[in-house]
Amino acid sequence: MERFEILISAQQIASRIKEIAAELDETFKEEVPIFIGILNGSFMFMADLLREVNMDCEMDFIKLSSYRGNETSGTVRLLKDISADITGRHVVIVEDIVDSGLTIKFIKDRMMEADPASLTIVSLLHKPDVAKLDFAIDIVGFEISPEFVVGYGLDYDQKFRNFDGIYRLKEGPEDN
Ligand code: IMP
Repeated sequence: MERFEILISAQQIASRIKEIAAELDETFKEEVPIFIGILNGSFMFMADLLREVNMDCEMDFIKLSSYRGNETSGTVRLLKDISADITGRHVVIVEDIVDSGLTIKFIKDRMMEADPASLTIVSLLHKPDVAKLDFAIDIVGFEISPEFVVGYGLDYDQKFRNFDGIYRLKEGPEDN
């Protein structure tokens, strides 16, 4: 674990998720929203968030292409679409991290084409110094500085998603 430095602990994540769930419960107490997780990165956040909300809700996943190594490819590709019909539904997008904002913009535009009753975007992490967005992320778990992080669903070359906290990946050779 010497290549990793803890940034956000599992306990910090768990307590922030309780706050986010309470906010969503309040917003959607009269509705049955559909939560849409963005694979692969949001699987852990989605699972923990849905265990904390109390409203009746549905869920689905969408899969997009993401990072190669620690550089963005610059284009977003749809690998798996949602199965649910979201027209007229209250949709909650669950994302792991908003970095450049490219992915979330793609999702938002795509979801809006289906004319949902409302669209709420929840992202566990946000790098505000990097993202250039012309819309707001409704709920952000933690704002972080522009550095590469792994764990709690987030990967580096598909690895480290299983860590229960968020870690900073230190620069340097892999054999330290
Ligand atoms: P964006 O399109 O640049 O906002 O990036 C969104 C996607 O890139 C996320 O869903 C992640 O899969 C990936 N990503 C962005 N920043 C990081 C990071 O620091 N660590 C791991 N993955 C990241």
